[in-house]
Amino acid sequence: MKIIHTIDQLRAALAAAPAAPVFVPTMGNLHEGHLALIRQARVLADQGGADRSPVVASIFVNRLQFGPNEDFDRYPRTLARDAQLLEGAGCDIVFAPDEAELYPEPQGYTLHPPEAMATLLEGEFRPGFFTGVCTVVAKLFNIVQPRAAVFGKKDYQQLMVIKGMVRQMALPIEIHGGETLRADDGLALSSRNGYLTADERAEAVQLSQALQQVRGALLAWRAGSASASGVAPSIAAIETMASEALRQRAWLPDYVSVRRQRDLLPPTAEQAAGAEPLVIVAAAKLGKTRLIDNLEV
Ligand code: PAF
Repeated sequence: MKIIHTIDQLRAALAAAPAAPVFVPTMGNLHEGHLALIRQARVLADQGGADRSPVVASIFVNRLQFGPNEDFDRYPRTLARDAQLLEGAGCDIVFAPDEAELYPEPQGYTLHPPEAMATLLEGEFRPGFFTGVCTVVAKLFNIVQPRAAVFGKKDYQQLMVIKGMVRQMALPIEIHGGETLRADDGLALSSRNGYLTADERAEAVQLSQALQQVRGALLAWRAGSASASGVAPSIAAIETMASEALRQRAWLPDYVSVRRQRDLLPPTAEQAAGAEPLVIVAAAKLGKTRLIDNLEV
């Protein structure tokens, strides 16, 4: 596996490859969830037969997607360990540029998702986040020129934003979603889990449990009638109950919400009661750490 730090060297390495790469962008500090994305990329890359695509992973902590009070400075930079893990998972090339390489001048040209998406859910609580993500991902796509790229479904809205960008900008890249990996107790794997104290780590499972409880209440609401005892009267009531339960345990929830998978907008009551594919999304702070998770229904 090659570790490459400059755009020129990466382009030279890719020019010698038999086919366009399959790409997994990351911010490093890798865990099993990332490695599963690399393995998924490896399978996609090997489908080319003799024209086997290289698997390229990038590691770059992208300042543009962090808010002023977020964790850009303390985000762990663990390149040596990450490189070992990537090699074991079947990655061929790691692209790890420094800031001066990717942003040699202030990045004045940026790529904005539609306002409705940029201000929804994560966008509401992390203003500018999706502009930062789209800008760096578009730039990385231009540098790597992959035929396919893999993004984790744990960042559900990010995956949707990237798919929208690729579709509307007519980028010739297939976007694949990778399933969320969970610890034995159900906590979704995330680089930010590393910030949790031992007590917080034990408590963190409550977020995925809240999603399970919302799912249970939603299914009961679908099956039962609003008047049956023990059945929540509405989806809004289910969401409020879940948020309140987290708040009681000293979490600070940003949202716990039932949404349509197709556009992350709230379903109508008829849609929620019918066959509309739904996803329960949640974001909440535990101590200083903000965690997100989701569950498809
Ligand atoms: O999901 C991430 O790690 C980042 O948002 C990404 C896609 C690598 C862009 O910086």
